Amino acid sequence: MAASYQIIDHVYDAVVVGAGGSGLRAAMGIAEAGLKTACITKVFPTRSHTVAAQGGIAASLGNMGPDHWTWHMYDTVKGSDWLGDQDAIEYLCREAPAAVYELEHFGVPFSRTEAGRIYQRPFGGMMQNMGAGPPAQRTCAAADRTGHAMLHALYQQSLKYATDFYIEYFAIDLIMVDGECRGVIAINMDDGSIHRFRSHKTVLATGGYGRCYFSATSAHTSTGDGGGMAIRAGVAMQDMEFVQFHPTGIYGAGVLITEGARGEGGYLTNASGERFMERYAPSAKDLASRDVVSRSMAMEMREGRGVGKEGDHINLHLNHIDPAVLHERLPGISETAKVFAGVDVTREPIPVTPTVHYNMGGIPTNYHGEVVTLKNGDPDAVVPGLFAVGEAACVSVHGANRLGSNSLIDLVVFGRATAHRIGETLKPGTPHAVVNSVADDFAIGRLDGFRHSKGASGTAEIRLAMQKTMQTNAAVFRTAEVLEEGTHKIDAVYQRMADIGIQDRSLVFNTDLIETLELDNMVGQAVLTIHIAKARHESRGAHMHEDYPNRDDENFMKHSLGWFRDGGVELAQRPVHAYTLTDEIEYIKPKARVY
Ligand code: FUM
Repeated sequence: MAASYQIIDHVYDAVVVGAGGSGLRAAMGIAEAGLKTACITKVFPTRSHTVAAQGGIAASLGNMGPDHWTWHMYDTVKGSDWLGDQDAIEYLCREAPAAVYELEHFGVPFSRTEAGRIYQRPFGGMMQNMGAGPPAQRTCAAADRTGHAMLHALYQQSLKYATDFYIEYFAIDLIMVDGECRGVIAINMDDGSIHRFRSHKTVLATGGYGRCYFSATSAHTSTGDGGGMAIRAGVAMQDMEFVQFHPTGIYGAGVLITEGARGEGGYLTNASGERFMERYAPSAKDLASRDVVSRSMAMEMREGRGVGKEGDHINLHLNHIDPAVLHERLPGISETAKVFAGVDVTREPIPVTPTVHYNMGGIPTNYHGEVVTLKNGDPDAVVPGLFAVGEAACVSVHGANRLGSNSLIDLVVFGRATAHRIGETLKPGTPHAVVNSVADDFAIGRLDGFRHSKGASGTAEIRLAMQKTMQTNAAVFRTAEVLEEGTHKIDAVYQRMADIGIQDRSLVFNTDLIETLELDNMVGQAVLTIHIAKARHESRGAHMHEDYPNRDDENFMKHSLGWFRDGGVELAQRPVHAYTLTDEIEYIKPKARVY
């Protein structure tokens, strides 16, 4: 053992790490199956990043016009630029309506139509009739605070079940024994005590790693802690090059203005007041998918048509919309625009710019939430005992580009699927094998290493170098030269972790130590993102490679895999699931993606 820490033991059937939408839905379902369940979270559950989701949750309820789950599936496959696994996408879209009705019954205060049904708004890339159009109103909304409403309802519901919450506990590492996950080691940030959670099933629901970037809509807590733990456990991460830029982050602040603003009739203009999206996406216009809109905005700015003295932003207009509609449907962003941009949305446009928002890539799983990794040539080999859900995971339903409002539905559909899988495969009270102390030594040794580190580089300094590199070298547009430079810069940042030095040596609410653990989780994912992006010689979804401007299905309709071995990065590919789950829908064949 690296140091003489007293370890407090806990024994559970299952442990969920993270208490956002997917973590809570999984924890609730596992506890409901009669399994002894713990949920470990570094923030109070209702402060998890799901709280920030605004515009809504996609499901083909058909409350505002014709709709069908197969249309939702078509749009999701097209949105993914054919990189999504179609078995998983079928599962998502087919289960979506039931998942939304479940949320309604849990008490989510959805906005209502005149007839009292759940209100649904248009969102980017969501169409009727297998993409033929017109737009489908498919995104179920609670004004522009849908994530907030969902998270509170899910937390309240989860208190009905016997889940034990460990709040403000930071998970340090997985307990891996012979390739199997046997639980997790965590630190209680309040008193510095170290806890070993033994579990047969461990679910990583820790969110994305958006804070690898300098400007992101993600909470400062979005540090990809589950991805960091998975990487250290030897899991090959998937599709990390696909980072979503949301078209409308407030210029200078990075705060999200929901796509629902364009769903309610908002539109973008350049410096000369032109509605430029009509040129780039003649049919869907401002409601094309996010990668298309973000790229179009970036093109406008690059070609000198950006707004402002420096031509570095775009205007989003809501001022033509009836103030009563803004008040009823978009109250949150009306306030946000006032606070962060000083703009009264009833009179002036909001200055916006594409801002990092979501990681399509992450810990690879199948549609049961089981983590899969490359093992003896099998790319779908299940890692026993380990699950991942939500943004931490790559199921993959979003492929190369996620459609707005498909993330909230992903959380609840796959949170529930994971709970079902665990409930089906584990008997309550199954005895635990004795834990090999090597796994504990690894976690404690790492903690101790950072705690007593005396190097020359501060955590904030290394983090800033990582964020600036990501912002510059893994942006909306990429070239071979920029990515090549990026790999050297990010490798250098990674090396600097060995020279870190923190000042505070205590264990109790030591933000320096926790931020260092978070940085260590992020930096591995930052390295993989740039290395994998450099290897994808095509343009697909959110990965726009200017030296390879076309999609290349022959060589690259494959998931990318990346992991660390002997201090270096190794890469491989995994076939996309080019099959559906049932005979009710055929495989949707690739074609040109136009909006
Ligand atoms: O624009 C938004 O409201 C964000 C939704 C999403 O990312 O799904």
